[in-house]
Amino acid sequence: MLHFSTSRTATSQSRNSVGTMKSVTSIAELRAARAKLPETVGLVPTMGFLHEGHLSLVRRARSECACVVVSIFVNPSQFSPSEDLEAYPRDTPRDLSLLEAEGVDLVWMPDAAVMYPPGYQTWVDVKEVTQPLEGGMRPGHFRGVATVVAKLFNAVQPQKAYFGQKDAQQVVVIQQMRRDLNFPLEVVVVPTAREADGLAMSSRNVYLDSEERIAATVLFNALNAAKDAHLAGERDAEKLRQIMEDTINAEPLAKLQYLSCAHPETLQELEKVETGALLSMAVFLGKTRLIDNLVLKE
Ligand code: PAF
Repeated sequence: MLHFSTSRTATSQSRNSVGTMKSVTSIAELRAARAKLPETVGLVPTMGFLHEGHLSLVRRARSECACVVVSIFVNPSQFSPSEDLEAYPRDTPRDLSLLEAEGVDLVWMPDAAVMYPPGYQTWVDVKEVTQPLEGGMRPGHFRGVATVVAKLFNAVQPQKAYFGQKDAQQVVVIQQMRRDLNFPLEVVVVPTAREADGLAMSSRNVYLDSEERIAATVLFNALNAAKDAHLAGERDAEKLRQIMEDTINAEPLAKLQYLSCAHPETLQELEKVETGALLSMAVFLGKTRLIDNLVLKE
């Protein structure tokens, strides 16, 4: 069952130091505005409540494209019934002023009824790479992500689309979908933006209390401990997983959900690290679930 948001934002246009940012909600308005944009068009899909991680995607798009389109849509279909869609943080006025300051050309803020009108029944179901890791913990999540991203690609028709390495499996799923459905665009993967102490930036970090916030560096520390072992010559994937697990377990506030040393494209668990690997994990700090990852290169 899909949830329908009632929030609507009127079409608006405002001038900033860089240019004129337009924000639209309907598909018709989006198409009309998109048609006037010179190419190359770069799309940055977001669920809003923007932080430096999102802005690093916008800046990369700004540096590579003639026009930058940002979508803000808290996608109900990627939330499971146990995940609280309504509690997802939102601050549209702040998001818009941040995007305006970055020189974004067009913001698309559809509501749920635009994306999933009554009677909606078409889904994008990527198979193998959605099964492990986040897919194992959040059944149906990537079906929602792949579907909404396909709809965003179809509506905006960008030449480039920007995603963060922070959501490593999401990137793999979207790359797979792009190839399988022949979307004529380039997926650009932007490195994870981190706080000074290494914590990966995430909208969920606001839920951490001060003790959990300090303890949350354990994810980055665990990834780095495994990376150091790899640099020192360790190629046994189980040993690398054990190093990460020991580091997480040494932090009393952290509760490990899963960790992985997997092939970076198939996401299958490795026995030996031969041509690089994706180290990834999900860890609870109190009620807050954080994910992080690091790519080992040969
Ligand atoms: O990474 C996100 O914020 C979302 O999963 C995305 C790609 C915007 C799809 O809703």
